[in-house]
Amino acid sequence: MTGIVISGTGVYTPPHSISNETLVESYNAWATAWNDDHKAEIEAGTIDAMQMSSVEFIEKASGIKNRFMMDGKGPTDPTRMYPNLSELAPEGPMGTPVQVQMALAAAEKALAEANLKGEDIDLVILSSSIWERFVPSMATELQKILGAKGFAFDMAMACSSATFGMSTAVDAVQSGMANKALVVTAEYITPAMNYTDRDSHFIFGDAAVAIVIEREAETKSTSAFRIHDRKLFTEYSTNIAAGFGTRTLIERDKISHPDQRFIQQGRVVFKELLPKVIDHVNAQLAAKGYKVEDFKRFWLHQANINMNMFATRKLLGEDPTQDKAPIVLDEYANTAGAGCIIAFDKYKDDFKPGEFGLLCSFGASYSIGSFILERI
Ligand SMILES: CC(C)(COP(=O)(O)OP(=O)(O)OC[C@H]1O[C@@H](n2cnc3c(N)ncnc32)[C@H](O)[C@@H]1OP(=O)(O)O)[C@@H](O)C(=O)NCCC(=O)NCCS
Repeated sequence: MTGIVISGTGVYTPPHSISNETLVESYNAWATAWNDDHKAEIEAGTIDAMQMSSVEFIEKASGIKNRFMMDGKGPTDPTRMYPNLSELAPEGPMGTPVQVQMALAAAEKALAEANLKGEDIDLVILSSSIWERFVPSMATELQKILGAKGFAFDMAMACSSATFGMSTAVDAVQSGMANKALVVTAEYITPAMNYTDRDSHFIFGDAAVAIVIEREAETKSTSAFRIHDRKLFTEYSTNIAAGFGTRTLIERDKISHPDQRFIQQGRVVFKELLPKVIDHVNAQLAAKGYKVEDFKRFWLHQANINMNMFATRKLLGEDPTQDKAPIVLDEYANTAGAGCIIAFDKYKDDFKPGEFGLLCSFGASYSIGSFILERI
């Protein structure tokens, strides 16, 4: 046992709800116009025509029905196909980034649940997959806005950004480096998507989550979860990638190249990552003397319905119910590091003291982060 609790969580849901129907309609309009523009080459057989996307495929292959975006107009405008700046966008290069504003909205909810104010926090970790700004650190700007003390820093671990951030916060509180930590995963991910790629245009949505981590002996929360154990894993893989970075500032002719945005080998990810997730969780439970029956609920990473069903079926030995392994990706799509925390936030209020749950992220890099939690 760590002596540390999660004393509050919060979710920020962006303002624009975009259905599969809307997304497919705009993609197909874009693809039809592209095919018209390239009619001669397509007829000569020198290039392939763009295939149409379909609502039925997306729902069957991924379980996603909807996603939220900070700007919904740009990605669904067939003459644009990438986001406009959000309505929250700052004026001037040093205005508060959209990502920090998303983080703030989630943080305020988590602090309220923990019965804390910004000034009570002395460690802020902004841990996300994709970065709107590198310098100055966005976490330090959030720290300033919240009136938090101590120190703050940015970190990144793709789809496990929240769980790895939480684990780092536990270390800091356990070691005495900090007393009360706020971890925020603000996934402003739509700018990194390629809305002209039929295989991936539907996968991601924007969202932010926040988690307060503090000592059990000090918490004022009435709904805290004790952290019994945590286990992290990484193994390098390029099967999920987004190539942009400082090199994009040098190789400027490549900025529109598809490999600068999100790309994946979806089937390979499915096959390679899931066995690692199942082994990881089973090894953690065995090492700590738990059985799957000890857990009321599994809050899993939210990438794909078939992946989630497969993982929980393998772990539990039966088909999972929404109660046992809740799905939020139908509404939110894949929100990278935020997904398992959205599931936790929305499906934790019915827990009674003494009941256990398992939180587990998995995804790009590859990365896996799992926590054994008990409601106190
Ligand atoms: C990406 C993913 C949804 C694709 O589902 P899939 O069932 O594997 O589908 P495939 O990629 O094999 O494509 C099947 C067919 O549908 C087609 N297709 C792809 N996108 C389509 C779309 N939007 N609409 C219609 N058809 C589509 C493909 O071209 C392919 O056609 P083909 O059989 O003629 O070659 C799925 O592999 C996945 O989610 N994998 C895990 C990804 C993941 O978790 N990533 C982690 C990010 S954190």
